[in-house]
Order: sequence, then C-alpha cells, then structure tokens
Amino acid sequence: MGEHWLTREVTGHERDRLIDASSEMSRIEVSARAISDLEMIAIGAFSPLDGFLSYSNYQSVVRNMCLASGVAWTIPITLAVSDEEAKRVRAGTDVALYEGDHLLGVLHLAEKFTCDKKREAELVYRTTDEAHAGVRVLYAQGDWRLGGRISLVNRPRNPTFTQYRKDPAQTRALFQERGWSRIVAFQTRNPVHRAHEYIQKCALEIADGLLLHPLVGETKSDDVPADVRMRSYEAMLNHYYPSTRTVLSVLPTAMRYAGPREAVFHALIRKNYGCSHFIVGRDHAGVGNYYGTYDAHHIFDEFDPQELGITPLFFDHTFFCRACAGMASTKTCPHESSEHVTLSGTRVREMLGAGELPPVEFSRPEVARVLIEAYRGPEVAMT
Ligand code: ADX
Repeated sequence: MGEHWLTREVTGHERDRLIDASSEMSRIEVSARAISDLEMIAIGAFSPLDGFLSYSNYQSVVRNMCLASGVAWTIPITLAVSDEEAKRVRAGTDVALYEGDHLLGVLHLAEKFTCDKKREAELVYRTTDEAHAGVRVLYAQGDWRLGGRISLVNRPRNPTFTQYRKDPAQTRALFQERGWSRIVAFQTRNPVHRAHEYIQKCALEIADGLLLHPLVGETKSDDVPADVRMRSYEAMLNHYYPSTRTVLSVLPTAMRYAGPREAVFHALIRKNYGCSHFIVGRDHAGVGNYYGTYDAHHIFDEFDPQELGITPLFFDHTFFCRACAGMASTKTCPHESSEHVTLSGTRVREMLGAGELPPVEFSRPEVARVLIEAYRGPEVAMT
C-alpha cells in the first residue's frame, strides 16, 4: 500500500514560484476546519487524497464509501465556501488559501459545485438531526465546495503540541528505526482510562509497537479538552507503558462523530502514519445514541481487507470485573454485570468535581489527579 502514499507540501523552486504567483491569485481565507484538512492532505495523512474532493469523488465517497477510482474513502473532505466566495473564483485557475494574512498554499481549482447537505448527513452520519455534533458543523458550512489538488507552501501558524507532532513521514521513519513491522494504532478523544489501557495492551501483546494517537483537532465543546487528554497520557506513560514499545504522538484533525464511517477513516489515516493494525472498540467515534455499539465493527465487512491495507482489531465493551479480579470484556467474562465496575460519564464528572478519586479499577490515580486538577484547579489536586 505504501507505494500509493502521497504528500502535497511543495518546497524549493516550486514553492518560490507559487509564493510569487499568489499575489495575482484570487484569495480565500479558510476556516479552522479547512486549515487542518489542508495540512492533513499535504503531510500525507489523508493520502491518497491530493486535494479537496471534486464532484465525482464527492458523490462517490458519499454514496459508495470510495473515490471514483474505487479506492476506499469514507468521509468527504471538501472545501466549503460561501456563495460570495464561490462567485469570486474561476475553475481552471489557482486560488491562494490564507489563514488570516498568512499564506498557506494554493488550490488548483478544478471545479466548484453545490451539494445536498441533507443527503450527505443521511449517508455519512446516518442522521439528518442537527443536534448531532458532526451534522451541525456540516449544516453551518457554506453551500459551495471547491474541488482540486492543493500545494501547501507554509504550515499553519501556531501549531499545538509541537513536542508530540510527528508527520506520517516521521512516524514511518521512527517505526523503521525501531525495527517494528506490526504496529497498532489507538485513536482517542478522551483521557485514558482502564478500559483503554486494557485494549491497548491486549493489542500490544501481539504487536511490535503501539502508537498512542490522541486526536487534538476540533472537538465538540463538552469533550475533555485536548491538553487535558494529553496530560492524562503523560501521567500514565512513565508508570505503566514500556517506553521501548510505545510512541505517543498527536493527530491534528477534527473529530467528525461519524461513528462507523469515521472508524474506517481513522484506520486509513493510521495506515498513512505507517501502522499495520488499528483498534476499534465499542461505539468508536460515536456520539449520543446515533450508532449501534458495534456498528463501527460491522462496517469493515463492506471492505476488502486487502484493499484497506490496515487490519482492524475489534474489541467488545471492556471493564474491570470484581469476580474475575481483572479487566475483562463481554466476550471473556462470565459474570453478572453487577460485578462490573462501570461508571457513567456524569458520575465520573461528579466525583472529579468533588475532588474524589474514581476507583482504581476505573481510572489510574495518576490520571484521576490530572482530571481533578482540570475540573477544580491545581490547589485541590495537591491534597
Ligand atoms: S473515540 O471517539 O475516539 O472513539 P474514545 O476516546 O472514548 O472515543 O475511544 C477510543 C477507542 O477506545 C475507540 O476505539 C473506542 O471504541 C474504544 N473504547 C472506549 N471505551 C471502551 C470500552 N469501555 N470498551 C471497549 N472499547 C472502548
């Protein structure tokens, strides 16, 4: 699969030429979402995309979960603009893309088109309900989409988590350096808890290395903020993970909350980062009650594993079981659910808000302290 991997960051003469030419181009100031999509395409995290989807690719992704060429792709990556912006640009020309007054790159505009957002919501998110966090973002976008290849000339300003940023080229090189060939990736938008740790370590039992890859792009406002998520991992790494087999790095892309479709998308992205396996647990990338607990497992049946190029590792709902005296899952535990230590998000927030540590069967105390600090301020966590 590696042979198809492509990046769109330009350097040297080509970069100089585009920077010079950009002063004559129509100019579009892009949203935070588009900035991160642009960067993801450019660094090869969204390979084989070489730009924002054209109409035929868009249609094919929305309807058939593949590009027009037949290559698997489940989330439409498009550049949405307003009517006014769409009027200002002409297909067949280059358009300069800006973050404020900072030139990011050039869109080689092939075509502009409008789309049916409701239909996109229905097919991609499996709901047209605007209470859904991903659908809400889709509905708020402009009605036009600009399709075409991109060339990135400058990285976005003010990158976050710089010490944990590794482009796909860098993780690939790192894995090679370490001599790993079976590499399992873990996606997350939450602080690490025992169930996460358990499935990560089960996977690591059969792999050479583990890529802990928390998403740090846009998330909905009530998700735990990315810096807290990262601190929870920092608190864990020294104590509970073998440093020679674990890499912590960030994924700077937006959460879309598209459940099953996003599970496949997340897997394809991690293939680009050089991973061979990808963990898909319960309700992966889900939100509310829009998806069945294992819909994100079932969707993989619709793809040829060979074509996907990365192997999903499926995990059922996991928890600590008092009767087993250890972590277990609905697949491995024969006991009543009354033996299982499971806590609702609301209950955990209540405990943390009161400065109380959740049980060690649920969360490592090192992580609980990070969360208490985030919920109540540093002085409380010291006690
Ligand atoms: S997600 O939106 O990134 O999927 P989260 O960070 O909660 O949310 O989950 C990260 C990964 O762990 C996903 O693959 C998810 O399915 C899995 N997961 C989370 N909690 C559990 C659990 N209790 N049992 C099994 N898998 C889980």
